[in-house]
Amino acid sequence: MIRREAFGSPAWHQMVALRYDVLRAPLGLAFGAEELAAEASQIHLALWQDGRLAGTLLLIAPDAQDEATLRQMAVRPDLAGCGLGRRLVLHAERELLSAGLRAVRLAARQTAIGFYARLGYDVDGAPFVAKTLPHRTMRKALGVQEPA
Ligand SMILES: CC(C)(COP(=O)(O)OP(=O)(O)OC[C@H]1O[C@@H](n2cnc3c(N)ncnc32)[C@H](O)[C@@H]1OP(=O)(O)O)[C@@H](O)C(=O)NCCC(=O)NCCS
Repeated sequence: MIRREAFGSPAWHQMVALRYDVLRAPLGLAFGAEELAAEASQIHLALWQDGRLAGTLLLIAPDAQDEATLRQMAVRPDLAGCGLGRRLVLHAERELLSAGLRAVRLAARQTAIGFYARLGYDVDGAPFVAKTLPHRTMRKALGVQEPA
């Protein structure tokens, strides 16, 4: 089951913990209070499996803009490679498309570029470093047929 969770809710705290374990702890980095506070206006999607949080992502979808930003994508490591990341991203895209958004942009870690490419995202722009890791911006137009 995939659903939106409210900022500050107990589910949101579980999502922050998963994001910390998957995305930040391996880099020796923490979430700052300001960084988390800025998430109040973002969409928090959670994938639950057998009553446990299995994956999460955040969306920034400002009113009156055509393009959304996907960020903080994390799947529980013991469930990686089972198709959950794909389900989460495709669910997010459907939500955004039905809300009138026309494209999704994200900053992909070098190690995750292949994952997003499988889902139809294209590299857009030069390499850059964020949180000490090499990244590329990737983008996908919504409403375009999925790759085979
Ligand atoms: C990257 C991540 C989100 C992928 O989620 P997942 O549930 O493991 O991926 P899925 O099982 O849905 O994979 C979908 C497809 O992408 C491929 N894939 C998954 N991870 C990949 C990777 N890192 N590189 C290349 N291909 C990948 C799968 O083989 C699968 O291919 P298929 O279409 O041939 O079946 C997840 O492994 C994760 O949380 N990684 C650590 C955190 C991270 O890197 N987040 C992204 C930061 S930008």
